[in-house]
Amino acid sequence: MFGEKVCKVQLIPEHKMNIIEVSNITKNYKVSKGKSSFQGLLSSLLKNEYSVVNALKGVSFNVKEGDICGVIGLNGAGKSTLIKILTGAMYPTSGSCVVNSKVPYKEREIYVDKIGVVFGQRSQLLWDLPVKHSFVILRHIYRIEKKKFEDNLEYFTKIMGIDKFIDTPVRMLSLGQRMRAEIVSTLLHDPKLLFLDEPTIGLDLIAKSTIRRAIKQLSEEKGTTVILTSHDLDDIDVLCDQLVVLDSGKVIHDGNKSDFINKFRSNKKIVVEVDGQLDLKQLSKNPLKEASIVADNTYSIEVDEQTQKLSEMLKELVNELPIVDLSIEENSLEDIVHSLYH
Ligand SMILES: Nc1ncnc2c1ncn2[C@@H]1O[C@H](COP(=O)(O)OP(=O)(O)OP(=O)(O)O)[C@@H](O)[C@H]1O
Ligand SMILES: [Mg+2]
Repeated sequence: MFGEKVCKVQLIPEHKMNIIEVSNITKNYKVSKGKSSFQGLLSSLLKNEYSVVNALKGVSFNVKEGDICGVIGLNGAGKSTLIKILTGAMYPTSGSCVVNSKVPYKEREIYVDKIGVVFGQRSQLLWDLPVKHSFVILRHIYRIEKKKFEDNLEYFTKIMGIDKFIDTPVRMLSLGQRMRAEIVSTLLHDPKLLFLDEPTIGLDLIAKSTIRRAIKQLSEEKGTTVILTSHDLDDIDVLCDQLVVLDSGKVIHDGNKSDFINKFRSNKKIVVEVDGQLDLKQLSKNPLKEASIVADNTYSIEVDEQTQKLSEMLKELVNELPIVDLSIEENSLEDIVHSLYH
C-alpha cells in the first residue's frame, strides 16, 4: 500500500540573481598632446589639441550575487577603469551599469554604504597612526553603530590575521600586512559588495595565500559578492567563480575559468642552449622544428601538454642535441592572451 505513494522530491536548482549588470560600457580619456614638456602642454591646451584613449570599448557582463568574479588582463587592458566606473568614482562615456539596483556614478551617496573598495596602490589608512585608530575614524565616517563595529572588527581581524599588528603605525607595516589591514578597513561597515583592484600585486607567496584564504572565507561566511582585478592567474584559480578577461578594452572571455586556466597551464616553453649553431632545416625529425631562435645557440620550443608529453619531448631533445643548458618556463598571461585571441 505504502509503495504506491510516490513521494516526489524536486531539486530546485539554485537561482542566483544578477547583482551587477554591465551593458556596453565605453570609456574614452582625453589626453592633451605634447604632455612631455610644460610648453608643449600649454600650447596643446591653448590650441585645444587632444588625443583620445579608448580605455573600454563596449564592455558587457553580469555577476551573480555572492559570486567571486575575477577580471584579468595585461597592463592597460582597462581593469582599473572598469572598477572606477563600477564603484561610482567615474562616469562611463556611454553604456550603463546597475550594481545592487543602483547606478553607481549617479547614486553614489547611497551606493557607497553598500560597497567596500580597495585600490592596491592607494591607502585609506593614516600613515602615522596605529591601524586601529584609522578603523575608529572610519567608524565615524561610515556612522557604524558601536556594537556592529566591535563585532565586525573582531571577526575581520581574525579572518585577515591582523591582530598582531593592529596597534602598530601603518608606516611600519609590510606591504602584505598593510593590504590585509586595508581590506579590513573597507569591510567594517558590512558591505554587500567588495571591489579589490590588484589586492595581491607585489606580495610574496605567503601574503598572497593569506589574502586569498580570507577572501574565500568572507565570501563563504558572509555571502559577499567580490570583484577583483589581477595579473595573477593563481588568484583566479583559487578564488573565482567567474572569469572576465579584458584585452585592450574588450571582453575576450567571460564565464568559466577552467578552460582558460587549463589552456594556460598546459602551455609550456622549453628553452635550450646548445653547443654550437644548429641548422633548423636539417633537424626536420627533431622537435626543434617547432622552435624559434631566442639568442645565439639558444632556442625556445612551445609545448602544448594537452597534445604532447613534456617528458618525451625532453628525452628526445637530450638524446639528439648537444645541450649545454635547459629550462622549462610557464607561459605568461601575455603569451596566452596572444595565442588564444590574436
Ligand atoms: N586618467 C587617465 N587619463 C588618460 N588615460 C588613462 C587614464 N587612466 C587610464 N588611462 C589609459 O586607459 C587605458 C586603460 O587603463 P587602466 O588603468 O584602466 O588599465 P589596467 O588594466 O588597470 O592596467 P594595469 O594592469 O597597468 O593596472 C590605458 O591605456 C591607460 O593609459
Ligand atoms: Mg590597473
